[in-house]
Amino acid sequence: FHVENIRNFSIIAHVDHGKSTLADRLLEITGTIAKTDHNKQVLDKLQVERERGITVKAQTASLFYHYKGIYYLLNLIDTPGHVDFNYEVSRSLSACQGVVLVVDANEGIQAQTMANFYLAFEAQLTIIPVINKIDLKNADPERVEKQIEKLFDISKDECIRISAKLGTSVDKVLQEVIEKIPPPSVNISDPLKALVFDSTFDHYRGVIANIALLGGEVQKGHKIVSAHTRKTYEVHEVGILTPNEQPTQKLYAGQVGYLIAGMKEVTEAQIGDTLYLHKQPVEPLPGFKSAKPMVFAGMYPIDQSEYNNLKSAIEKLTLNDSSVTVVRDSSLALGAGWRLGFLGLLHMEVFNQRLEQEYNASVILTTPTVPYKAKLSSAKLIKEYGKEEITIINPAEFPDKISVSEYLEPIVLGTILTPDEFMGKIITLCQARRAVQKDMVYIDDHRVMLKYIFPLNEIVVDFYDALKSLSSGYASFDYEDAGYQATDLVKMSILLNGNPVEELGTIVHKDKAYAVGKAICERLKDAIPRQLFEIAIQASLGSKIIARETLKAYKKDVLAKCYGGDITRKMKLLKRQAEGKKKMRKIGKVEVPKDAFLNVLKRQ
Ligand code: GTP
Repeated sequence: FHVENIRNFSIIAHVDHGKSTLADRLLEITGTIAKTDHNKQVLDKLQVERERGITVKAQTASLFYHYKGIYYLLNLIDTPGHVDFNYEVSRSLSACQGVVLVVDANEGIQAQTMANFYLAFEAQLTIIPVINKIDLKNADPERVEKQIEKLFDISKDECIRISAKLGTSVDKVLQEVIEKIPPPSVNISDPLKALVFDSTFDHYRGVIANIALLGGEVQKGHKIVSAHTRKTYEVHEVGILTPNEQPTQKLYAGQVGYLIAGMKEVTEAQIGDTLYLHKQPVEPLPGFKSAKPMVFAGMYPIDQSEYNNLKSAIEKLTLNDSSVTVVRDSSLALGAGWRLGFLGLLHMEVFNQRLEQEYNASVILTTPTVPYKAKLSSAKLIKEYGKEEITIINPAEFPDKISVSEYLEPIVLGTILTPDEFMGKIITLCQARRAVQKDMVYIDDHRVMLKYIFPLNEIVVDFYDALKSLSSGYASFDYEDAGYQATDLVKMSILLNGNPVEELGTIVHKDKAYAVGKAICERLKDAIPRQLFEIAIQASLGSKIIARETLKAYKKDVLAKCYGGDITRKMKLLKRQAEGKKKMRKIGKVEVPKDAFLNVLKRQ
């Protein structure tokens, strides 16, 4: 293939606007896959993705298309469709020269449409606007075209109206890809320069890196080097994706394909890395960064006897996902486990679901926390940590206020798009989450775009659900990293008759401590069975009690009903009680069933 007959492009869209359906149609009309009902959304491989209708892991396919007497090679680079994976989206886009921006003809521009548009625009890619689902009864393509004109400054004449579902005008999309998107500007005679834009792990063959060749060529037997790790490998296999791997002799500049080179972990082929030939170093692509976890949570086996199984399941899963960080951790109540870092809450849920579905592992996840920072003022602590600013991902390691000059919390710039009838409620919600408004514009007669700076911890757990429910599902939300801001944090402890419950300690904003503490005490009261004495359940900040519930005493005598009964029944009951005790954790004299903590932690 001549470079001028190659096009590298991505489809970008808000969730559910039809990216996967359009990709499937493109694969069908180019004969890449047969047209049957069974291969719906071949590009979405993971079970959790199918269940939730979201794309998490990018899949790529090379399509061959005959147009005006010429054969074209069209590389469709699929991007993950969620805010948690924005970094991966931007790296996938750097392998493209253009994008097809899909907008639902009924819903119009949504928060992720904005985010994706800007990623493509900043990368200076050609943008082909496509209005999908024109077959829907409520479709209003004119309105969407006006939004596109207003927000993206793209003329409505450039929009292609299609129905991916019915196949209407889908061929027009391919033709525009050929006509409008430039071929990659690369040179085969340059030294090899390959961008890694995705990688997966295969049990037998090791890491499979998806690469875009920006210069030179690569084939089996070549020695290559990772610009990021500086490690050298011998290439075992190269090929194209259709979307399954299909080995080829060589890959040339301008092509997109895969490479296998004896890498054993996905961290050896990180997204954004550059590969070059041994002894022929090239300038690596700028802007490489490791994906940065923003949400941390403890993960424990439900039963400690499951520890080893869970350990091996986590190891296998992280082989395929270099963006999850894993550190061993332990808790008195929950036993040995790990503290895991994720890109966002959805990423965490996907990971958890994959553990359950693919490895049959049941786990306990503790309340997620964001990476706070503290500037230390105590000379002793600075010496201990070897630095003045530390990151806190575990409430158990929260440094006390007297040894800290300032606490910092991560913030994000959030974008909300909503019909204006819900605006009042949404603004109230944002204010309750300590958010500061940055912008508000009408994008058409009835829809508003709001921008807010949010503390990340205020949106991590349930903001999206709250937003969806108060807007009957109509508001959409996306966010991007906006750095850190100074904040006032406290560590809240939970006490049972004066004794602290280490695993329920949380880091909270000072102004939120009372409400959070009250909620935990109430839940704990429901979760602990009454005992022979009264139990005070308290939330405290240092020595100051801020919330309290009292669990009344209860004279529990399991043998009472057996008086006069037969001895075997008595023995059975005693045995059962002893077994029950094993699952108890003693805090002071108070016995707490282990699952009480789980219930409190899970719903916090
Ligand atoms: P993510 O993978 O979550 O990003 O979603 P997506 O953008 O890939 O959307 P997907 O292709 O899964 O489509 C979402 C829903 O819209 C599915 O139920 C599709 O059947 C439906 N859909 C897609 N295209 C059309 C269309 O042209 N017309 C109609 N009526 N429905 C469509």
